Amino acid sequence: LSTVDVDLSLIPEGQGMTVLWRGTPIFVRHRTPQEIEEARKVALRDPAKDQDRVKPHKEAWLVVFGVCTHLGCVPVGQKPSQNRGDYGGWFCPCHGSEYDTSGRVRRGPAPTNLPIPPYVFLDEKTLRIG
Ligand code: FES
Repeated sequence: LSTVDVDLSLIPEGQGMTVLWRGTPIFVRHRTPQEIEEARKVALRDPAKDQDRVKPHKEAWLVVFGVCTHLGCVPVGQKPSQNRGDYGGWFCPCHGSEYDTSGRVRRGPAPTNLPIPPYVFLDEKTLRIG
């Protein structure tokens, strides 16, 4: 399938859902106000701003490739009960890269942030990836 639709009403705040798009895991994360604040207040070496990584007025929703940019493992942290690393996003169990609540790499060998796939909001509760 070249597009995948996600029912956002199934993802409570603080949780993530993993969907497959073109055979690749995509993380859809429903961020809490606190997680958005965390993502916006930090000053980073890599100047990617959280504001540029989400859609306007939809900042609760972060959509990123669920593939570590180091060697391609799938990071953990989609559920709050999992290890999300020190920056609250995702932790890669392979070599310890840590991503923040904007999917930006903050520690470890991963060279770049988690990329963002093409997506649109079809309506209040439907996200289309692709
Ligand atoms: Fe994720 Fe190496 S593959 S840190």
